[in-house]
Amino acid sequence: MGEAMIQGLITKHLIDPAKITVCEPRGERREQLKQQHKIKVTSENRDAIHSSTIVLSVKPQDLNKVLSELKGRLKPNQLVISIVAGAKIKTISDTLTHSAVVRVMPNTPAQIGEGISVWTATSSVDKEQLGNTKTILQALGKEVQVEEEKYLDMATAVSGTGPSYVFLVMEAMIDAAVHLGFARHVAYQLVTETMRGSILYAMKSSKHPAELRNMVTSPGGTSAAALYQLEKGNLRTVISRAIFAAYERSKALGETDSH
Ligand SMILES: NC(=O)c1ccc[n+]([C@@H]2O[C@H](COP(=O)([O-])OP(=O)(O)OC[C@H]3O[C@@H](n4cnc5c(N)ncnc54)[C@H](OP(=O)(O)O)[C@@H]3O)[C@@H](O)[C@H]2O)c1
Repeated sequence: MGEAMIQGLITKHLIDPAKITVCEPRGERREQLKQQHKIKVTSENRDAIHSSTIVLSVKPQDLNKVLSELKGRLKPNQLVISIVAGAKIKTISDTLTHSAVVRVMPNTPAQIGEGISVWTATSSVDKEQLGNTKTILQALGKEVQVEEEKYLDMATAVSGTGPSYVFLVMEAMIDAAVHLGFARHVAYQLVTETMRGSILYAMKSSKHPAELRNMVTSPGGTSAAALYQLEKGNLRTVISRAIFAAYERSKALGETDSH
């Protein structure tokens, strides 16, 4: 995720690569990042904290170690942006003894600059830092600022975890197409292009999804037959329950993190 951010920042000409310093513990990976992006690299977190903005992009289990290394070393005018899933602002802020913190929930399509990040900032984050946050997150795709941290758990369930629901539906449709008799590569193309086209069409038309669905559902037709089965199988309820389960899980993991 950190590399996707660097890639996006450089490709979109949002920052001079020479201004980016990455801390990467593994020598081989460090060298690869340096060669590929022409950025500065270091093996010590302490040497990567002189910029105006510090991005925390480690796995949740590595966060405490990194925070303890940075504790007491940041100036009040520096901004800390964390994309670490489940890590609460209070945990980061208290451990670092630093108040300007932004917490972000990105999602996997960020790998190709097509993600959506939901973020919130503490009241210590000034206007310029809010602007810098938007710029950095635009390297990953779109961004939405929310007023309260509670929305981060909701975003985790909808957009953060969302790609896994889409991939499952994609997989089920491909398998069904193979079941009908298509070769797998043809099934893949039919399904992915149908998903891509339908989403682009829905976004461009700005009509409610139900209206778009009604437009393609002729009386006694194929859509009506298929939609009947989807409703009978409780598709809406299953999706709603799945998103609620992810939300509950996100909250529970956050509680574990803070105790
Ligand atoms: N991937 C997603 O779609 C996604 C979505 C939402 C949120 N997130 C959050 O984004 C964060 C990063 O996820 P990721 O998938 O990018 O993980 P990742 O590929 O494992 O990247 C983590 C990086 O941190 C480095 N690292 C490990 N220990 C370190 C230390 N002590 N000091 C400095 N760097 C250290 C790792 O180095 P090595 O390679 O040498 O181990 C690796 O380069 C996670 O907290 C995750 O919850 C990810």
